[in-house]
Amino acid sequence: MKIAIYPGSFDPVTYGHLDIIKRSAALFDSLVIGVLSNSAKISLFSPDERVSMIRDLVKEIPNVSVRSYDGLLVNFADEVGASAIIRGLRAVTDFEYELQMAQTNKVENSNIETVFLTTDLHYSYLSSTVVREFASYGGDISAFVPPSVVPLVQEKYNKKRI
Ligand code: PNS
Repeated sequence: MKIAIYPGSFDPVTYGHLDIIKRSAALFDSLVIGVLSNSAKISLFSPDERVSMIRDLVKEIPNVSVRSYDGLLVNFADEVGASAIIRGLRAVTDFEYELQMAQTNKVENSNIETVFLTTDLHYSYLSSTVVREFASYGGDISAFVPPSVVPLVQEKYNKKRI
């Protein structure tokens, strides 16, 4: 049984993430989406909120599950019995950070491979940061995130404005 993890912040999950999820679920027997819960970054959504919004979006994909993790990625991979870490590559600007992370993780645990999927052209510009930036100024984010996520993001910024 080939298990992969797809880790990230997913703050919030975007169409770009969903594309990577669907494509990697087709490549592996089981895909575990890992939401980093102890990131140094200040997040818009709590880990539980992010897990539940992703769960709702992947409920129709039978071999995909979602959970949060603390600490090192390689330890999370070990814990779920994964042999691969999936990362999406958008542009050359992603490459340096991703290469460093993949090589560091390989030194830490040589049994785990990092598998890069190139992002669909439609989503190569897209990031959670851009979504948050747009939403914070009241912009339309419906081209970036699924319909169920739009009001959740808007609600966060409406609360901040009050
Ligand atoms: O979506 P992101 O924020 O680019 O995802 C980065 C993430 C969460 C995958 C990565 O920062 C992570 O898993 N960090 C946990 C700590 C860790 O293992 N660091 C070593 C990587 S070199």
